[in-house]
Amino acid sequence: MQANALLRADHDSSATATESSRYARTIKASKRVRWDIDADVIRGREFDFSQTFLPAGLSKVDELAFLTGAERRLLSQVQGRTYAYIFGLVERYIGVKILELSGQHWLGDQVALEALVRFSDEELKHQELFRRIEAMLERSMPVGYVKVADPNDVAREVLGKSTWAVLALTCNIELFTQAHYQQSIEPQPDLSPLWKDVFKYHWVEEVQHAMLDELEWVRENARLTLRQKEQAVTDLIDLVAAVDGILQAQSQADAAYFLGIAGRRFTGEEEAGIRALLLRAYRWQYIVSGVQHPHFGRLLTEMTTEPQMQRIQAALAPIVAT
Ligand SMILES: [Fe+2]
Ligand SMILES: [Fe+2]
Repeated sequence: MQANALLRADHDSSATATESSRYARTIKASKRVRWDIDADVIRGREFDFSQTFLPAGLSKVDELAFLTGAERRLLSQVQGRTYAYIFGLVERYIGVKILELSGQHWLGDQVALEALVRFSDEELKHQELFRRIEAMLERSMPVGYVKVADPNDVAREVLGKSTWAVLALTCNIELFTQAHYQQSIEPQPDLSPLWKDVFKYHWVEEVQHAMLDELEWVRENARLTLRQKEQAVTDLIDLVAAVDGILQAQSQADAAYFLGIAGRRFTGEEEAGIRALLLRAYRWQYIVSGVQHPHFGRLLTEMTTEPQMQRIQAALAPIVAT
């Protein structure tokens, strides 16, 4: 009995040591890649509107054959503006949630605590970067752009859900951020260099965030009872529906903005095509590219039962099928 208890204690302390070394790795990487908004990212530059912002792999603008090259570029710029806005929006709740979770380590693993404090600090910096980018775009683009949701209202709604669901959503977002940069932004040669740098620098800090999301998500998962997990899955489905609600409204607002500034009239069918394209692109950017990320799929499958996965997939089906 005593030997068993000792063995268990041994196993627990080596598991904790492994966990602690994973937190330590993120601190090391975070120190190595750390950047400054002005000195490294913006460097006194302004946006050049003869260039594309969001790459075609994300904006999907090439799917609309009736748009001219200049119109595709303009639609990529509208979507790029929304990309900065949506990231600033979600990072409000992410930073607060990570600060809240750091409380679980206050009198525990100080390495984990430092990792989460750095994570929150980086998200505050990212929010400032996106506010700066939004302000630059506002100065240079025609008036009429509408943001459909307030970051604090969204954060209040998200933070009211169970921690398991919030971490699942966050892990999803921080993994797709990396996929977007590596698969779409980095490979496209004719993108705005300033826009590309914003997302390159953002990406190098998001790598650590996704690792920390996973550590915290797995810790939270181990704590939940079966009933709490059922509720957490329901919460995750509700969160995805809430994100989708924002995307539906923002895609309508961005379609109206684009139609107002494009400088020509479109047929009713073309206008409907632009609205549908924006919703499809936003769902791809903010939901589908995340849930189809292989690592996210693996984590979610490991942490849910088959009926729970079926519930999640049924909720996602209409969004994926857009
Ligand atoms: Fe970020
Ligand atoms: Fe992040």
